[in-house]
Amino acid sequence: MTKQEIDPMPEANNLDRQRLEALHSELHRHAHNYYVLDAPTVPDAEYDRLFRELQAIEAAYPQWITPDSPTQRVGGKPLDQFASVRHAVPMLSIRTETDTESSGAQAFDTRVRKELELTETEAAVEYVAELKFDGLAINLRYENGVLVQAATRGDGENGEDVTQNIRTVGQIPLRISAPRLAAVGAALPPEGTRSALERPGGEPSLLADEVPKVLEVRGEVYMRRDDFEALNERQRGRIAAGEKGEKTFVNPRNAAAGAVRQLDPAIAAQRPLSFFAYGVGEVAPQSVGSLFATHMELLQTLKSWGFPVADEIRVVRGADELVAFHQNIALTRDQLPFDIDGVVYKVNSLALQQRLGFVTREPRWAVAHKFPAQEQMTTVLAIDVQVGRTGKLTPVAKLAPVFVGGVTVTNATLHNEDEARRKDVRVGDTVIVRRAGDVIPEVVGVVPQAADQPPRERSAIFTMPRICPVCGSAAVREEGEADYRCTGGLFCNAQCKQAILHFAQRRAVEIEGLGDKLVEQLVDANIIRTLPDLYRVGFVALASLERMAEKSAQNIVDALEKSKQTTLPRFLFGLGIRHVGEATAKELARHFGGLDAIMDATEEALLQVNDVGPIVAKSLRTFFDQAHNREVVEQLRACGIYWEEGAASADSPKPLAGMTFVLTGTLPTLGRDDAKDKIEAAGGKVSGSVSKKTSYVVAGTEAGSKLTKAQELGVAVLDEAALLEMLK
Ligand code: IVH
Repeated sequence: MTKQEIDPMPEANNLDRQRLEALHSELHRHAHNYYVLDAPTVPDAEYDRLFRELQAIEAAYPQWITPDSPTQRVGGKPLDQFASVRHAVPMLSIRTETDTESSGAQAFDTRVRKELELTETEAAVEYVAELKFDGLAINLRYENGVLVQAATRGDGENGEDVTQNIRTVGQIPLRISAPRLAAVGAALPPEGTRSALERPGGEPSLLADEVPKVLEVRGEVYMRRDDFEALNERQRGRIAAGEKGEKTFVNPRNAAAGAVRQLDPAIAAQRPLSFFAYGVGEVAPQSVGSLFATHMELLQTLKSWGFPVADEIRVVRGADELVAFHQNIALTRDQLPFDIDGVVYKVNSLALQQRLGFVTREPRWAVAHKFPAQEQMTTVLAIDVQVGRTGKLTPVAKLAPVFVGGVTVTNATLHNEDEARRKDVRVGDTVIVRRAGDVIPEVVGVVPQAADQPPRERSAIFTMPRICPVCGSAAVREEGEADYRCTGGLFCNAQCKQAILHFAQRRAVEIEGLGDKLVEQLVDANIIRTLPDLYRVGFVALASLERMAEKSAQNIVDALEKSKQTTLPRFLFGLGIRHVGEATAKELARHFGGLDAIMDATEEALLQVNDVGPIVAKSLRTFFDQAHNREVVEQLRACGIYWEEGAASADSPKPLAGMTFVLTGTLPTLGRDDAKDKIEAAGGKVSGSVSKKTSYVVAGTEAGSKLTKAQELGVAVLDEAALLEMLK
């Protein structure tokens, strides 16, 4: 409603009316700074005070409540069903290329050039490359700058009227007007970090202050991952408090879709939704084509009107640059605060878009290029319980094979009993499995049974067995611990096998060729029970094993012999003492010099060592207080395991103390393992992931996403030569 449409009013009301309008503007401005620009300009308390003042005026003059009032974001009555909305301009879908990155982009560019009848010698076509957000498409209709209707895509012709819910989304302007311009200009990022969205010099479009009478903005409603996690955390609290009908959500997309299609807007208001604009629907009285020359210009203008537009947008030329965009986003995708399922390429020129037109329901000027899905549905075939080296029992869901995140997944950990029960994963359930980046696959949640299907009987809720599934010893969960542990120790075949594999691994004493299959055979045949047994097997026993050639048996014998010459840190780490990793083993060796001193050290003495806290000290004492563990050490020494002992050195120089390094790519001279050893020896730490706390990222050849992340966070990057210099 504009000013002219409001009834003439008596003088007495005039001041209230003016105040109401001032409050509208002020609250809109604060909300935009807060939700869209992420740069709050007033404290929450001040916002609340202005909000209450507006509510009070509206209570006195209900006839002044307009749909764009900031008070109208929350509230509204629950609906029985959504009204149907016929879209003024159909909401089309886009063709999806699932091909490899280069052939997908190439095929699109070739089609566009052919359609435009461009010869090979003619210039490359200009495209806008965008993210493909994984949310829900929405059409926002503004008349005279006021949000009058929000609708879902539906079948493309008819959607659902979800205006009440969409009003609750703080990032969506209830009204668009010229005053936004000041805020946009002020919020420009510094020179050099600008995305393609910002014009050189930062002046908004000349058209920006002329909002069309009818403007439909199209975009995606989504939920940020952190908002999603927080929402689920709250939901878990509600479920724990016994609130009826509450549930957790399987992923941000489902949570966002559920919120938009929620009949009670009060509930929708509690769901933290976000929005990105990526296009327009009806624009009148002038057409989009007469207002803007390019799609990029349109996006820039939408941004200047207060709509959130993603920063990761580039104007590129030709297929190669599309491929580069795709590759770059594929690498950095996990670092975005929200989910995407691909990228979208669009012809930039609106005139060319018009010439290209549509085939059936899809524009010829746009294509979506998807990434391999990170989530898939599959069925739980069984829930097994695996026993780890320290006796930890881990429930693992056995899944019907499913291709997700680029690999076929058949197992997914459920971590522990509480986690398995919290997710309530049961045999026979349909679940969503997620594998993002190199992270191990996990079961995100159970897909609820469809309401229109006859309910299926579910199997029993998962319970951790109270005896070890491998050796039958008692499995216990100690006070305050999340895990059950088998108490069988080396009597348990599973623990025994893992302990041997741990000792034999490359970073411990390294017994080349002693892999899981062989250890399995040796333990199951009762040839080996303890670590010293390894050095007693001999050629004959090995050669007599099934599928073992003489040559291979001899190789193992040789590898065993070679492993005897080791170092104290490798040996100590290889013993598999709980909480004693490689770095701690190195610190212990450096501090005490020899093994006997470590075995006899009191907890107080152990606490003097770098990196050793009460838990590690206690664990070491417990281990060496057990006679059978000392026996293992003695026997290993008797078998000929040998290392140089050094002098105790409490304070060797530590030039890299307090620094954290992340290694990425190939380091041609040192290799990653050696580099790690050297950094640790110099007092530094080596971590697997880049954060603001990282001191340096050491990038070798073919460095990947960690390098990109370092550049984004402004973390210093070294090459191998610079690292070697620091280590001198
Ligand atoms: S443009 C005519 N741009 O993908 C072109 N769509 O089938 C209309 N989507 O569900 C769509 N990110 O909601 C476009 N940057 C983006 C997008 C995007 C996500 C969704 C859209 C729809 C589907 C298109």
